[in-house]
Amino acid sequence: MSRRILVTNALPYANGPLHLGHMVGYLQADIWVRFQRMLGNEVHYVCADDAHGTPIMLAAEKAGVTPEAFIAAIRADHEKDFADFGVCFDHYHSTHTPENEALAGLIYSRLKAAGAISVRSIQQLYDPVRDMFLPDRYIKGECPKCGTADQYGDNCENCGAAYSPTDLKNPKSVVSGATPVMRDSEHYFFELPKFQDFLAGWLADADIHASIKAKLKEWFDGGLRAWDISRDAPYFGFPIPDAPGKFFYVWLDAPVGYMASFKAYSQKAGLNFDEFWSAGSSPELHHFIGKDIVNFHGLFWPAMLSGSGHRTPTALHVNGYLTVNGAKMSKSRGTFIKARTYLDAGLNPEYLRYYFAAKLGSGPEDLDLDLKDFQARINSDIVGKYVNLASRCAGFIERQFSGRLAADLGSIGALYTPQFDGAEAAALYDAGEYAAVVRLATNICDRANEQLQLHAPWKLASDESRRAELHAICSAAINTFRVVTMLLKPLLPQLAAQAERFLGIPPQQWSDLARPLLDHPIQPYQPLATRIDPKTVDAMLAEEASNSPAPAAPPPQPSPARGEGEKKPAIAASPTPAASDTIGIEDFSKVDLRIARIAEAGPVEGADKLLRLKLDLGPLGERQVFAGIKSAYAPETLVGRLTVCVANLAPRKMKFGMSEGMVLAASDERGGPFLLSPDAGAQPGMRIK
Ligand code: MSP
Ligand code: ZN
Repeated sequence: MSRRILVTNALPYANGPLHLGHMVGYLQADIWVRFQRMLGNEVHYVCADDAHGTPIMLAAEKAGVTPEAFIAAIRADHEKDFADFGVCFDHYHSTHTPENEALAGLIYSRLKAAGAISVRSIQQLYDPVRDMFLPDRYIKGECPKCGTADQYGDNCENCGAAYSPTDLKNPKSVVSGATPVMRDSEHYFFELPKFQDFLAGWLADADIHASIKAKLKEWFDGGLRAWDISRDAPYFGFPIPDAPGKFFYVWLDAPVGYMASFKAYSQKAGLNFDEFWSAGSSPELHHFIGKDIVNFHGLFWPAMLSGSGHRTPTALHVNGYLTVNGAKMSKSRGTFIKARTYLDAGLNPEYLRYYFAAKLGSGPEDLDLDLKDFQARINSDIVGKYVNLASRCAGFIERQFSGRLAADLGSIGALYTPQFDGAEAAALYDAGEYAAVVRLATNICDRANEQLQLHAPWKLASDESRRAELHAICSAAINTFRVVTMLLKPLLPQLAAQAERFLGIPPQQWSDLARPLLDHPIQPYQPLATRIDPKTVDAMLAEEASNSPAPAAPPPQPSPARGEGEKKPAIAASPTPAASDTIGIEDFSKVDLRIARIAEAGPVEGADKLLRLKLDLGPLGERQVFAGIKSAYAPETLVGRLTVCVANLAPRKMKFGMSEGMVLAASDERGGPFLLSPDAGAQPGMRIK
């Protein structure tokens, strides 16, 4: 009997572009959805942007646009990124919508009626200049333990100490720079402890990886506490009914966004909303989330659903965190890779789908995108092993057998297409064990390629007496290609569609797996996959490493730092201050200014304003920089002279090569550029302070 399944993905914050870390969870869910559909199950797949909260409010303000305009632009970018990576949502919504406001209000009123909402006064730091309460992440000061300056209100990046913002020495509001003061405010709380028994039962039954269950159990056994679900104005969110000046905390209405998205979709698709969401409803509900948001989905959300008379989740699928080249993603190394940058570099999105899948199991382990391994793996698995089965044999079928596969593969068939258990492969997919599916597929390819090497059809082609054998070998290889195509179809949907066209077959369902193609016409072979050009990967990294300013188009993108709700404010990475803004000495000292000796200078072909300089920074080594000073200096006059350069500017890839710094020159409408020079005695590499 076919299953009815509603699948959701965590809703990305509408405060910045998606990066490859985000993509892990979306691709993981999309693969699962595509597989379930291949099996013939009824699957609905929805998502939305998570549009509320302080970071988004402040980012919009900074960009000089309304929050509505801000989130609309980001949502459009997110939707495009998802579409281009093949993520096949049935509907993509936003939490800032009438559906979501109505559903959040309904859930809240039912929780209130059930006695699960309480109100009490709390003390919190307040910015008296900006007139707002400050989330922990919006307070900075000196670490109470080690004294390091410029630490966030929740923990110290230097010594790792965890504390509360009131412990910081010399606390300052990140928003205005003012010294925060303590203020009282009434807050609304969701009484989670009332759901202790319900949650114990839900947790026992729900389909959740054992390690995540253990984590939830730990919190649980530590005792549940009431959850603060309100925030004071100003806040971008939904006003709490009958509570003037109070808003729902972003995490209250965020998961409700799953319902809101489904609601909008159900109207479009003619589905019955209640059939999926009322208490005890039979369709399955699967949430795909990252490991950092397990508490929201494993405690608060099921309790909210149950307390408001709704159904509860069937399963949580939890993904780990992405690292790149073995380390946390880093902007300066260029490994904080945006989804769009990957695509713009010309890399095939399906290759990333494949690579992630090859590393994904059912557990929440972190996974690494090792870019060298990525290239090797794609070139070997997809191009060398899988597509090779078709590309090597298709020509013989086409030219020598009028494009028709053999009617009988004889004993050769079994040598190529092995006996394997489709049900077992399906179980692996269903359990999220994609890495095992990939292993299965590569094993099949390896075996068929070995046979192909052994039989060497290219040697038989000229031998009239062995035509039947040639026909059977090539047909068997192409049948193996079909099996692997089907196995990998959820990972490589576009490639599979092309392969199906080549094979002259309709979109394959899982049940077609055991049906070989005999005496069947195929289409002329067109190249299906190409190797990764290492230059594209380098270009991608260089692009991210370059400090290319955000495009002028509104709204400017806020910090691409992980799209944290209340955790790390987008505002922290503020754009270049206007001339009148002051900066502290700490900001200035971040710029590493050094004396440089111009060792070489020359023109740049194709650029009339630029000179290519080689700078000698003494003990810091040599740098290449491009400087827009050609109008004022003949290159040969520069060689040997000293100047000042910014030595810690992130390297930037230009059309002409890498620029690894910047020399300082003055200019305005009165003239210039005038290159700066130190007084006599300065030596290359000396720091300017
Ligand atoms: N808005 C919340 C989710 C609300 S769900 C009702 C949120 N948004 S997010 O933009 O920060 O993250 C979206 C998803 O991406 C989350 O599942 C998060 O765990 C995941 N990831 C964010 N960075 C990631 C990595 N570096 N690696 C893997 N997953 C990551 O959280
Ligand atoms: Zn410290």
